[in-house]
Amino acid sequence: MEQFQFYSPTEFVFGKEKENEAGRLVKKWGGSKVLIHYGGESAKKSGLLDRVAASLKAKGISYVTLGGVKPNPRDTLVREGIALCRAEGVDFILAIGGGSVIDSSKAISGGFYYDGDFWDLYEKKSPLTKTIPIGTVLTIAAAGSEGSGSSVITKEDGLLKRCLTSDLYRPKFSILNPELTYTLPAYQTACGITDIMAHIFERYFTTSTDVECTDRLCEALLLTMIKEGPVAVKNPTDYGARANIMWAGTVAHNDIIGSGRKQDWNSHGLEHELSGLYDCAHGAGLAVIMPAWMEYVYSENVMRFCEAATRVWGIPMDFEHPEKTAVAGIHAFKDFLTGIGMPVSFKEIGARKEDIPVLVEKLGIGDGTRAGFKTLNRDDVTAIYELAARE
Ligand code: NZQ
Ligand code: ZN
Repeated sequence: MEQFQFYSPTEFVFGKEKENEAGRLVKKWGGSKVLIHYGGESAKKSGLLDRVAASLKAKGISYVTLGGVKPNPRDTLVREGIALCRAEGVDFILAIGGGSVIDSSKAISGGFYYDGDFWDLYEKKSPLTKTIPIGTVLTIAAAGSEGSGSSVITKEDGLLKRCLTSDLYRPKFSILNPELTYTLPAYQTACGITDIMAHIFERYFTTSTDVECTDRLCEALLLTMIKEGPVAVKNPTDYGARANIMWAGTVAHNDIIGSGRKQDWNSHGLEHELSGLYDCAHGAGLAVIMPAWMEYVYSENVMRFCEAATRVWGIPMDFEHPEKTAVAGIHAFKDFLTGIGMPVSFKEIGARKEDIPVLVEKLGIGDGTRAGFKTLNRDDVTAIYELAARE
Protein backbone atom coordinates (compact mmCIF):
# COMPACT_ATOMS: atom_id res chain seq x y z
CA MET A 1 0.00 0.00 0.00
CA GLU A 2 1.22 3.52 -0.86
CA GLN A 3 1.44 6.40 1.62
CA PHE A 4 -1.61 8.62 1.49
CA GLN A 5 -3.46 11.57 2.93
CA PHE A 6 -7.25 11.39 2.71
CA TYR A 7 -9.32 14.50 3.37
CA SER A 8 -13.09 14.35 2.96
CA PRO A 9 -14.63 17.15 5.03
CA THR A 10 -18.08 17.11 3.38
CA GLU A 11 -21.16 16.65 5.57
CA PHE A 12 -23.46 14.24 3.74
CA VAL A 13 -27.16 14.49 4.57
CA PHE A 14 -28.99 11.53 3.05
CA GLY A 15 -32.64 10.61 2.67
CA LYS A 16 -36.14 11.60 1.64
CA GLU A 17 -37.06 15.30 1.79
CA LYS A 18 -33.61 16.30 3.04
CA GLU A 19 -33.50 19.18 0.52
CA ASN A 20 -35.78 21.01 2.95
CA GLU A 21 -32.77 21.26 5.28
CA ALA A 22 -30.79 23.37 2.82
CA GLY A 23 -31.44 26.59 4.77
CA ARG A 24 -30.32 25.05 8.06
CA LEU A 25 -27.14 23.70 6.46
CA VAL A 26 -26.22 26.92 4.66
CA LYS A 27 -26.58 28.77 7.95
CA LYS A 28 -24.53 26.18 9.80
CA TRP A 29 -21.72 26.58 7.26
CA GLY A 30 -21.71 30.36 7.48
CA GLY A 31 -23.66 31.46 4.39
CA SER A 32 -25.72 34.65 4.52
CA LYS A 33 -26.05 35.56 0.83
CA VAL A 34 -26.38 32.63 -1.52
CA LEU A 35 -26.02 32.02 -5.24
CA ILE A 36 -28.39 29.22 -6.21
CA HIS A 37 -26.82 27.71 -9.34
CA TYR A 38 -28.76 25.23 -11.47
CA GLY A 39 -29.02 23.69 -14.91
CA GLY A 40 -31.73 23.52 -17.56
CA GLU A 41 -35.31 22.76 -16.73
CA SER A 42 -35.31 19.68 -14.51
CA ALA A 43 -34.91 21.34 -11.08
CA LYS A 44 -37.49 24.00 -11.94
CA LYS A 45 -40.02 21.58 -13.36
CA SER A 46 -39.88 19.23 -10.39
CA GLY A 47 -40.44 22.08 -7.94
CA LEU A 48 -37.07 21.36 -6.27
CA LEU A 49 -35.80 24.88 -6.85
CA ASP A 50 -38.83 26.37 -5.10
CA ARG A 51 -38.53 23.98 -2.16
CA VAL A 52 -34.86 24.84 -1.63
CA ALA A 53 -35.54 28.57 -1.99
CA ALA A 54 -38.32 28.29 0.60
CA SER A 55 -35.96 26.53 2.97
CA LEU A 56 -33.43 29.41 2.64
CA LYS A 57 -36.14 32.03 3.17
CA ALA A 58 -37.36 30.23 6.28
CA LYS A 59 -33.91 30.75 7.78
CA GLY A 60 -33.78 34.40 6.70
CA ILE A 61 -31.10 33.80 4.06
CA SER A 62 -31.26 35.92 0.93
CA TYR A 63 -30.25 34.57 -2.47
CA VAL A 64 -29.79 35.25 -6.17
CA THR A 65 -30.18 32.62 -8.88
CA LEU A 66 -28.26 31.68 -11.99
CA GLY A 67 -29.54 28.82 -14.15
CA GLY A 68 -28.58 27.56 -17.57
CA VAL A 69 -25.64 25.25 -16.79
CA LYS A 70 -25.30 22.87 -19.72
CA PRO A 71 -23.98 19.31 -19.47
CA ASN A 72 -20.21 19.63 -20.02
CA PRO A 73 -20.38 23.07 -18.33
CA ARG A 74 -18.92 26.06 -20.14
CA ASP A 75 -16.40 28.72 -19.16
CA THR A 76 -18.73 31.49 -20.36
CA LEU A 77 -21.39 30.89 -17.71
CA VAL A 78 -18.69 30.58 -15.05
CA ARG A 79 -17.54 34.13 -15.84
CA GLU A 80 -21.15 35.32 -15.63
CA GLY A 81 -21.46 33.62 -12.24
CA ILE A 82 -18.27 35.21 -10.92
CA ALA A 83 -19.46 38.68 -11.96
CA LEU A 84 -22.87 38.10 -10.38
CA CYS A 85 -21.39 36.88 -7.09
CA ARG A 86 -19.10 39.91 -6.90
CA ALA A 87 -21.89 42.35 -7.70
CA GLU A 88 -24.25 40.77 -5.16
CA GLY A 89 -21.78 40.10 -2.34
CA VAL A 90 -22.44 36.35 -2.40
CA ASP A 91 -20.69 34.36 0.34
CA PHE A 92 -22.03 30.84 -0.32
CA ILE A 93 -22.88 28.89 -3.49
CA LEU A 94 -25.60 26.26 -3.51
CA ALA A 95 -25.48 23.91 -6.50
CA ILE A 96 -28.76 22.22 -7.39
CA GLY A 97 -28.12 19.55 -10.01
CA GLY A 98 -25.54 17.06 -11.18
CA GLY A 99 -21.83 17.09 -11.87
CA SER A 100 -22.13 19.89 -14.42
CA VAL A 101 -23.86 22.31 -12.05
CA ILE A 102 -21.60 21.38 -9.14
CA ASP A 103 -18.45 21.78 -11.27
CA SER A 104 -19.63 25.14 -12.57
CA SER A 105 -20.30 26.20 -8.96
CA LYS A 106 -16.80 25.13 -7.94
CA ALA A 107 -15.28 27.13 -10.81
CA ILE A 108 -17.24 30.23 -9.78
CA SER A 109 -16.15 29.71 -6.17
CA GLY A 110 -12.50 29.59 -7.21
CA GLY A 111 -12.66 32.34 -9.81
CA PHE A 112 -14.35 34.70 -7.33
CA TYR A 113 -11.13 35.38 -5.44
CA TYR A 114 -8.78 35.08 -8.39
CA ASP A 115 -7.42 38.32 -9.74
CA GLY A 116 -7.45 37.36 -13.42
CA ASP A 117 -9.35 35.06 -15.76
CA PHE A 118 -10.42 31.90 -13.89
CA TRP A 119 -9.37 29.72 -16.86
CA ASP A 120 -5.72 30.32 -15.80
CA LEU A 121 -6.48 28.06 -12.82
CA TYR A 122 -7.69 25.26 -15.12
CA GLU A 123 -4.60 25.66 -17.31
CA LYS A 124 -2.51 25.45 -14.11
CA LYS A 125 -0.94 28.84 -14.82
CA SER A 126 -1.82 29.89 -11.26
CA PRO A 127 -2.66 27.86 -8.15
CA LEU A 128 -6.11 27.87 -6.56
CA THR A 129 -5.69 29.51 -3.16
CA LYS A 130 -9.13 30.54 -1.94
CA THR A 131 -12.77 29.63 -2.63
CA ILE A 132 -16.27 30.62 -1.59
CA PRO A 133 -17.77 27.67 0.34
CA ILE A 134 -20.25 25.57 -1.60
CA GLY A 135 -23.03 23.12 -0.79
CA THR A 136 -24.88 20.79 -3.14
CA VAL A 137 -28.33 19.28 -3.64
CA LEU A 138 -27.63 16.33 -5.90
CA THR A 139 -30.12 15.33 -8.61
CA ILE A 140 -28.18 12.65 -10.52
CA ALA A 141 -25.88 9.91 -9.24
CA ALA A 142 -22.92 10.01 -11.59
CA ALA A 143 -19.90 12.32 -11.45
CA GLY A 144 -19.35 12.15 -7.70
CA SER A 145 -18.60 15.88 -7.65
CA GLU A 146 -20.75 16.18 -4.51
CA GLY A 147 -17.90 14.57 -2.57
CA SER A 148 -14.89 15.13 -4.81
CA GLY A 149 -12.34 17.91 -5.01
CA SER A 150 -12.58 18.10 -8.79
CA SER A 151 -14.24 20.41 -11.28
CA VAL A 152 -14.31 19.87 -15.05
CA ILE A 153 -15.05 22.83 -17.33
CA THR A 154 -15.16 23.16 -21.12
CA LYS A 155 -13.74 26.24 -22.83
CA GLU A 156 -16.08 27.11 -25.68
CA ASP A 157 -13.28 28.60 -27.73
CA GLY A 158 -11.45 25.49 -28.96
CA LEU A 159 -13.72 23.07 -27.04
CA LEU A 160 -11.04 22.25 -24.49
CA LYS A 161 -12.24 20.28 -21.48
CA ARG A 162 -9.99 20.64 -18.44
CA CYS A 163 -10.06 19.41 -14.85
CA LEU A 164 -8.90 21.19 -11.70
CA THR A 165 -8.57 19.23 -8.47
CA SER A 166 -8.08 20.74 -5.04
CA ASP A 167 -9.30 19.97 -1.53
CA LEU A 168 -10.55 23.58 -1.49
CA TYR A 169 -13.17 22.40 -3.97
CA ARG A 170 -14.70 19.84 -1.60
CA PRO A 171 -18.27 20.89 -0.73
CA LYS A 172 -19.10 21.84 2.86
CA PHE A 173 -22.26 19.74 2.64
CA SER A 174 -24.11 17.62 0.13
CA ILE A 175 -27.77 16.73 0.34
CA LEU A 176 -28.52 13.32 -1.17
CA ASN A 177 -32.19 12.48 -1.61
CA PRO A 178 -32.51 9.44 -3.90
CA GLU A 179 -36.10 10.44 -4.76
CA LEU A 180 -34.75 13.48 -6.61
CA THR A 181 -33.30 11.10 -9.21
CA TYR A 182 -36.69 9.52 -10.08
CA THR A 183 -37.24 12.01 -12.93
CA LEU A 184 -34.02 11.09 -14.75
CA PRO A 185 -34.45 9.68 -18.25
CA ALA A 186 -33.22 6.07 -18.49
CA TYR A 187 -30.31 7.19 -20.69
CA GLN A 188 -29.02 9.67 -18.09
CA THR A 189 -29.44 7.05 -15.35
CA ALA A 190 -27.33 4.65 -17.43
CA CYS A 191 -24.72 7.34 -18.14
CA GLY A 192 -24.43 7.88 -14.40
CA ILE A 193 -24.06 4.16 -13.72
CA THR A 194 -21.28 3.97 -16.30
CA ASP A 195 -19.43 6.95 -14.84
CA ILE A 196 -19.63 5.52 -11.33
CA MET A 197 -18.27 2.16 -12.53
CA ALA A 198 -15.48 3.94 -14.41
CA HIS A 199 -14.50 5.83 -11.24
CA ILE A 200 -14.19 2.48 -9.47
CA PHE A 201 -12.37 0.66 -12.27
CA GLU A 202 -9.86 3.48 -12.68
CA ARG A 203 -8.84 2.90 -9.11
CA TYR A 204 -9.16 -0.88 -9.24
CA PHE A 205 -6.71 -1.29 -12.13
CA THR A 206 -3.63 -0.29 -10.20
CA THR A 207 0.05 -1.07 -10.17
CA SER A 208 0.11 -0.87 -6.36
CA THR A 209 0.38 -4.09 -4.40
CA ASP A 210 -0.99 -5.16 -0.99
CA VAL A 211 -4.17 -3.14 -1.35
CA GLU A 212 -6.66 -5.84 -0.36
CA CYS A 213 -8.80 -3.48 1.71
CA THR A 214 -9.49 -1.02 -1.12
CA ASP A 215 -9.63 -3.85 -3.71
CA ARG A 216 -12.50 -5.37 -1.78
CA LEU A 217 -14.24 -2.01 -1.32
CA CYS A 218 -14.04 -1.50 -5.10
CA GLU A 219 -15.46 -4.95 -5.75
CA ALA A 220 -18.33 -4.37 -3.31
CA LEU A 221 -19.25 -1.14 -5.07
CA LEU A 222 -19.02 -2.74 -8.52
CA LEU A 223 -21.25 -5.62 -7.43
CA THR A 224 -23.73 -3.09 -6.06
CA MET A 225 -23.80 -1.25 -9.39
CA ILE A 226 -24.21 -4.49 -11.35
CA LYS A 227 -27.17 -5.47 -9.17
CA GLU A 228 -28.91 -2.11 -8.74
CA GLY A 229 -28.04 -0.39 -12.04
CA PRO A 230 -30.40 -2.35 -14.29
CA VAL A 231 -33.14 -2.15 -11.63
CA ALA A 232 -33.06 1.68 -11.66
CA VAL A 233 -32.94 1.82 -15.47
CA LYS A 234 -36.03 -0.39 -15.64
CA ASN A 235 -37.91 1.02 -12.66
CA PRO A 236 -36.91 4.66 -12.10
CA THR A 237 -38.88 4.97 -8.85
CA ASP A 238 -37.28 2.02 -7.05
CA TYR A 239 -36.08 3.79 -3.91
CA GLY A 240 -33.72 1.02 -2.81
CA ALA A 241 -31.92 0.89 -6.14
CA ARG A 242 -31.72 4.70 -6.41
CA ALA A 243 -30.45 4.97 -2.82
CA ASN A 244 -27.72 2.37 -3.24
CA ILE A 245 -26.58 3.85 -6.54
CA MET A 246 -26.51 7.36 -5.10
CA TRP A 247 -24.34 6.45 -2.15
CA ALA A 248 -22.12 4.20 -4.28
CA GLY A 249 -21.62 7.15 -6.65
CA THR A 250 -20.38 9.35 -3.83
CA VAL A 251 -18.17 6.71 -2.24
CA ALA A 252 -16.78 5.80 -5.67
CA HIS A 253 -15.30 9.25 -6.14
CA ASN A 254 -14.61 10.94 -2.81
CA ASP A 255 -11.41 8.89 -3.05
CA ILE A 256 -11.73 6.65 -0.03
CA ILE A 257 -11.45 3.65 -2.38
CA GLY A 258 -8.43 5.21 -4.05
CA SER A 259 -6.50 5.74 -0.83
CA GLY A 260 -3.12 4.05 -0.74
CA ARG A 261 -3.16 2.99 -4.38
CA LYS A 262 -1.88 4.34 -7.67
CA GLN A 263 -4.77 5.17 -9.98
CA ASP A 264 -5.25 5.22 -13.72
CA TRP A 265 -7.24 8.14 -15.15
CA ASN A 266 -6.44 7.54 -18.80
CA SER A 267 -9.97 6.47 -19.77
CA HIS A 268 -11.26 9.72 -18.27
CA GLY A 269 -8.52 11.69 -20.02
CA LEU A 270 -9.34 10.16 -23.39
CA GLU A 271 -13.08 10.52 -22.78
CA HIS A 272 -12.89 14.21 -21.89
CA GLU A 273 -11.67 14.88 -25.43
CA LEU A 274 -14.74 13.05 -26.79
CA SER A 275 -17.30 14.95 -24.70
CA GLY A 276 -15.31 18.15 -25.31
CA LEU A 277 -15.38 17.76 -29.10
CA TYR A 278 -18.75 16.07 -29.66
CA ASP A 279 -20.66 17.29 -26.57
CA CYS A 280 -21.78 13.73 -25.79
CA ALA A 281 -22.68 12.75 -22.22
CA HIS A 282 -19.57 11.97 -20.16
CA GLY A 283 -20.91 8.52 -19.21
CA ALA A 284 -21.63 7.68 -22.84
CA GLY A 285 -18.09 8.65 -23.84
CA LEU A 286 -16.72 6.44 -21.07
CA ALA A 287 -18.83 3.49 -22.26
CA VAL A 288 -17.13 3.85 -25.62
CA ILE A 289 -13.56 4.34 -24.34
CA MET A 290 -13.29 2.14 -21.29
CA PRO A 291 -13.75 -1.31 -22.86
CA ALA A 292 -11.29 -0.26 -25.61
CA TRP A 293 -8.77 0.85 -22.98
CA MET A 294 -9.23 -2.46 -21.14
CA GLU A 295 -8.70 -4.45 -24.29
CA TYR A 296 -5.51 -2.51 -25.03
CA VAL A 297 -3.92 -2.72 -21.58
CA TYR A 298 -5.02 -6.02 -20.01
CA SER A 299 -1.89 -7.91 -21.05
CA GLU A 300 0.17 -5.65 -18.75
CA ASN A 301 -1.22 -7.65 -15.83
CA VAL A 302 -3.52 -10.45 -16.95
CA MET A 303 -4.11 -11.69 -13.41
CA ARG A 304 -5.49 -8.33 -12.27
CA PHE A 305 -8.05 -8.53 -15.08
CA CYS A 306 -8.76 -12.16 -14.10
CA GLU A 307 -9.55 -10.94 -10.59
CA ALA A 308 -12.05 -8.48 -12.01
CA ALA A 309 -13.54 -11.21 -14.22
CA THR A 310 -13.91 -13.79 -11.45
CA ARG A 311 -14.75 -11.63 -8.42
CA VAL A 312 -16.88 -8.98 -10.11
CA TRP A 313 -18.38 -10.72 -13.13
CA GLY A 314 -18.51 -14.26 -11.68
CA ILE A 315 -16.60 -15.82 -14.57
CA PRO A 316 -14.90 -19.16 -13.77
CA MET A 317 -11.09 -19.00 -13.86
CA ASP A 318 -9.45 -20.75 -16.79
CA PHE A 319 -6.11 -21.60 -15.18
CA GLU A 320 -4.64 -22.91 -18.42
CA HIS A 321 -5.58 -19.83 -20.40
CA PRO A 322 -5.85 -16.90 -17.96
CA GLU A 323 -6.00 -14.40 -20.82
CA LYS A 324 -9.31 -15.97 -21.88
CA THR A 325 -10.73 -15.25 -18.43
CA ALA A 326 -9.43 -11.67 -18.57
CA VAL A 327 -11.00 -11.06 -21.98
CA ALA A 328 -14.29 -12.66 -20.89
CA GLY A 329 -14.43 -10.11 -18.05
CA ILE A 330 -13.98 -7.24 -20.49
CA HIS A 331 -16.75 -8.66 -22.69
CA ALA A 332 -19.01 -9.00 -19.65
CA PHE A 333 -18.51 -5.30 -18.91
CA LYS A 334 -19.28 -4.37 -22.51
CA ASP A 335 -22.42 -6.55 -22.49
CA PHE A 336 -23.52 -4.93 -19.24
CA LEU A 337 -23.15 -1.48 -20.80
CA THR A 338 -25.10 -2.49 -23.88
CA GLY A 339 -27.75 -4.03 -21.63
CA ILE A 340 -28.39 -0.72 -19.84
CA GLY A 341 -28.62 1.09 -23.17
CA MET A 342 -25.16 2.60 -23.45
CA PRO A 343 -23.28 3.15 -26.72
CA VAL A 344 -20.01 1.22 -27.06
CA SER A 345 -18.62 2.57 -30.34
CA PHE A 346 -17.55 5.88 -31.87
CA LYS A 347 -20.40 5.79 -34.37
CA GLU A 348 -23.07 5.64 -31.67
CA ILE A 349 -21.96 8.94 -30.10
CA GLY A 350 -21.38 10.72 -33.40
CA ALA A 351 -17.57 10.49 -33.13
CA ARG A 352 -15.53 10.06 -36.33
CA LYS A 353 -12.49 7.92 -36.97
CA GLU A 354 -11.06 10.72 -39.14
CA ASP A 355 -10.97 12.98 -36.06
CA ILE A 356 -8.59 10.72 -34.11
CA PRO A 357 -5.54 12.90 -34.86
CA VAL A 358 -7.50 15.93 -33.60
CA LEU A 359 -8.46 14.08 -30.40
CA VAL A 360 -4.85 13.06 -29.82
CA GLU A 361 -3.68 16.61 -30.45
CA LYS A 362 -6.20 18.06 -28.00
CA LEU A 363 -5.11 15.52 -25.39
CA GLY A 364 -1.80 17.37 -25.44
CA ILE A 365 0.33 14.25 -25.05
CA GLY A 366 2.97 15.48 -27.55
CA ASP A 367 6.09 13.33 -27.33
CA GLY A 368 5.43 12.57 -23.69
CA THR A 369 3.58 9.78 -21.89
CA ARG A 370 0.62 9.33 -19.56
CA ALA A 371 1.27 7.23 -16.46
CA GLY A 372 -1.12 4.45 -15.42
CA PHE A 373 -1.74 0.71 -15.37
CA LYS A 374 0.10 0.86 -18.70
CA THR A 375 2.13 3.93 -19.54
CA LEU A 376 0.68 5.35 -22.74
CA ASN A 377 2.43 7.31 -25.47
CA ARG A 378 0.98 9.01 -28.53
CA ASP A 379 0.80 5.74 -30.50
CA ASP A 380 -0.93 3.97 -27.61
CA VAL A 381 -3.68 6.58 -27.21
CA THR A 382 -4.17 6.57 -30.98
CA ALA A 383 -4.55 2.78 -30.88
CA ILE A 384 -7.14 2.99 -28.07
CA TYR A 385 -9.20 5.54 -29.99
CA GLU A 386 -8.93 3.26 -33.05
CA LEU A 387 -10.22 0.27 -31.06
CA ALA A 388 -13.17 2.39 -29.93
CA ALA A 389 -13.78 3.47 -33.52
CA ARG A 390 -14.12 -0.08 -34.87
CA GLU A 391 -17.37 -0.69 -36.72
O1 NZQ B 1 -29.87 20.65 -16.81
P1 NZQ B 1 -30.97 19.80 -16.35
O2 NZQ B 1 -32.29 20.19 -16.87
O3 NZQ B 1 -30.96 19.59 -14.87
O4 NZQ B 1 -30.72 18.35 -17.05
C1 NZQ B 1 -29.67 17.49 -16.65
C2 NZQ B 1 -28.68 17.22 -17.78
O5 NZQ B 1 -29.30 17.36 -19.03
C3 NZQ B 1 -30.23 16.11 -16.40
N1 NZQ B 1 -30.68 15.92 -15.04
C4 NZQ B 1 -29.95 16.00 -13.89
N2 NZQ B 1 -30.70 15.66 -12.85
C5 NZQ B 1 -31.93 15.37 -13.32
C6 NZQ B 1 -31.93 15.55 -14.72
N3 NZQ B 1 -33.02 15.31 -15.49
C7 NZQ B 1 -34.15 14.92 -14.87
N4 NZQ B 1 -34.22 14.72 -13.53
C8 NZQ B 1 -33.14 14.93 -12.73
N5 NZQ B 1 -33.21 14.68 -11.42
O6 NZQ B 1 -29.17 15.21 -16.64
C9 NZQ B 1 -28.31 15.76 -17.62
C10 NZQ B 1 -26.87 15.52 -17.21
O7 NZQ B 1 -26.53 16.29 -16.08
P2 NZQ B 1 -25.00 16.50 -15.69
O8 NZQ B 1 -24.92 17.33 -14.48
O9 NZQ B 1 -24.25 16.94 -16.90
O10 NZQ B 1 -24.55 14.99 -15.38
P3 NZQ B 1 -23.34 14.40 -14.59
O11 NZQ B 1 -23.59 14.41 -13.14
O12 NZQ B 1 -23.03 13.14 -15.25
O13 NZQ B 1 -22.12 15.43 -14.82
C11 NZQ B 1 -21.32 15.34 -15.95
C12 NZQ B 1 -20.17 16.33 -15.85
O14 NZQ B 1 -19.34 16.04 -14.73
C13 NZQ B 1 -17.98 15.92 -15.15
C14 NZQ B 1 -18.12 15.39 -16.54
O15 NZQ B 1 -16.95 15.52 -17.29
C15 NZQ B 1 -19.27 16.22 -17.07
O16 NZQ B 1 -18.83 17.49 -17.49
N6 NZQ B 1 -17.23 15.11 -14.18
C16 NZQ B 1 -16.96 15.67 -13.00
C17 NZQ B 1 -16.23 15.03 -12.03
C18 NZQ B 1 -15.92 15.66 -10.74
N7 NZQ B 1 -16.21 16.95 -10.60
O17 NZQ B 1 -15.40 15.04 -9.82
C19 NZQ B 1 -15.69 13.69 -12.24
C20 NZQ B 1 -16.31 12.99 -13.37
O18 NZQ B 1 -15.44 11.98 -13.79
C21 NZQ B 1 -16.67 13.84 -14.54
O19 NZQ B 1 -15.57 14.07 -15.38
ZN1 ZN C 1 -16.36 10.48 -14.55
